[in-house]
Amino acid sequence: MRTQVAIIGGGPAGLLLAQLLHNQGIETCVLERTTREEVLGRVRAGVLETGFTELLAQAGADAGLKAGAGRHAGLTIADGENTFRVDLEALTGKTVAIYGQSDITRDLYAVRDAAGAPTLHECAGVKLHDLDGDTPFVTFLHGGKMNRLDFDFVIGCDGFRGPTRQEIPEDARVEHEKIYPFGWLGILTETPPVTDEFMYCRSDRGFALCAMQHDGLSRYYLQCRLSDGVDDWTDEMFWAELSRRIPSDVAGRLEIGPSLSKYIAPLRSQVCSPMRYGKLFLCGDAAHIVPPTGAKGLNTAASDIHYLHEALSAWYGKGDADALEAYSDRALARIWKTQRFSWWMTQLLHRFPEQSGFDRHLQDSEMDYLRDSTAAQTTLAENYVGLPY
Ligand code: APR
Ligand code: PHB
Repeated sequence: MRTQVAIIGGGPAGLLLAQLLHNQGIETCVLERTTREEVLGRVRAGVLETGFTELLAQAGADAGLKAGAGRHAGLTIADGENTFRVDLEALTGKTVAIYGQSDITRDLYAVRDAAGAPTLHECAGVKLHDLDGDTPFVTFLHGGKMNRLDFDFVIGCDGFRGPTRQEIPEDARVEHEKIYPFGWLGILTETPPVTDEFMYCRSDRGFALCAMQHDGLSRYYLQCRLSDGVDDWTDEMFWAELSRRIPSDVAGRLEIGPSLSKYIAPLRSQVCSPMRYGKLFLCGDAAHIVPPTGAKGLNTAASDIHYLHEALSAWYGKGDADALEAYSDRALARIWKTQRFSWWMTQLLHRFPEQSGFDRHLQDSEMDYLRDSTAAQTTLAENYVGLPY
């Protein structure tokens, strides 16, 4: 078998890039480890910058988004009992779209199927070969036999736990990492959201977030200890603790219900540099992850897709390799800005176990400055809605 661009991983990043390339007449083949049901069963938040929604439109996969997405024109920050709203739209002219990642993935699969482009599910043992040579290929088990797929380029879109990043020799890559000394305990409930927009809450007891997918589906998060397990938290304990961390008038309106799911996510940042080795290009979570505080998960994949799609189009369209050569540097420059923002939001809003009195005063003054300064709010807003590519 042969294709022009092999894509490892059929998550949102792999599928979006595949569709953009397909629309340019570039041949793609997506190899996914698991079943489609399993991919679509992953429920993850979707807070989308305009850049992401524009890429979905370019891919011809935005019908569901247009019909079903929510729009947030602002967000609220609570500091104990005091709250203030950051008006994203007034400060930047932009909003963010709220549309679940499984919906995005489902829409992308539908468009890819309709185009008759190949996606192979349940591919095991994906292994890349001759990445810095003239005849690169991937081998994998599928349909009960070993297969070989030759390609011009391979894109690692296989998420944080995927294998492609490790294909860059150890002496040719650096993995920068920051692990925060806490996690987020999240629950999903079929209850009306307590606020219309996200409310990020800083309190002496730790961070809390009131979020929502849509009118009848809410998500709430609590900063928790890394040693906590999901079973340490009953629903009653969760609601009681949430009520202590959010402003009391908001807690008074909270409608509680059984959790549909409950999970703990550690907070960490990771960046793999460079994002390219020979014929391999990394994209999305395969190359970098951010803590969820800035709502940047999928948006960091979008900037990679933008640069890579542009670079591959220039190569196939005009034989111009400059943008491919520049891909890693361009993608990383934007990734680091997003890392900085996610780190800043995390620093601002959480209780840190080792926080000294000095650190605490700095955090207080950062919060006061943000509340009182339009310049500071504009900085938050332009990062939250997404920096230009
Ligand atoms: N072979 C083939 N596919 C693989 C392999 C493998 N060895 N390992 C992992 N995959 C697949 C996974 O099954 C998954 O479907 O790669 C896909 C990766 O998808 P995601 O983890 O969703 O990553 P990505 O597409 O980069 O999407 C960005 O990152 O920050 C988060 O919340 C954000 O989910 C969003 C995502
Ligand atoms: C969510 O909807 O789950 C969500 C929203 C905003 C964040 C993180 C998660 O910053």
